[in-house]
Amino acid sequence: MAKILVAYYSKTGNTQKMAEAVGEGVKKAGGEAEVLSVENTGDPSSLVNYDGIILGSPTYYGILAAPLKDFLDKSIKVHGQLEEKVGGAFDSCGIEGGGSESTVLSILQGLLVHGMVVPGFSMTGHYGPVATGKPDERALSECRKLGEKVNYLADKIS
Ligand SMILES: Cc1cc2nc3c(=O)[nH]c(=O)nc-3n(C[C@H](O)[C@H](O)[C@H](O)COP(=O)(O)O)c2cc1C
Repeated sequence: MAKILVAYYSKTGNTQKMAEAVGEGVKKAGGEAEVLSVENTGDPSSLVNYDGIILGSPTYYGILAAPLKDFLDKSIKVHGQLEEKVGGAFDSCGIEGGGSESTVLSILQGLLVHGMVVPGFSMTGHYGPVATGKPDERALSECRKLGEKVNYLADKIS
């Protein structure tokens, strides 16, 4: 059974709702999900214990919010030890065209620098689920699918 971390930053709850849906998807696919706010993720060395790592952030000025960037920067402690773990990203922004895709890609860049494997999506949000403000059912469904897909791939690779 794959063990997947879903870590998020959320000030007003939108990204948190998405994180919970991602966790539901992991569990639906038979995996173990830990859904944690970045403030509660503890020492970065614990990242090596997961088969998959999915990160979510609100868009802040077109990219990921500082607390999630800080989480990524601290993950240098395990640089080189996350190779071939499976990753993913999701985002909530304030307005359509407000930078959701650039935010998701800014998170995925960090995961790729770790040597992680990240899936794309051919029929839905191509880089990962995005919501405008409070996630609607379309966004929550894409979040569940992200959790399912990362769990599926992590099961195959690990
Ligand atoms: C400092 C700050 C910067 C923001 N920058 C953007 C932005 O560039 N584009 C955008 O669409 N929304 C922006 N927003 C709005 C948030 O992305 C949006 O409200 C989001 O849904 C908040 O997610 P949360 O409820 O998980 O905190 C910004 C909000 C804050 C507080």
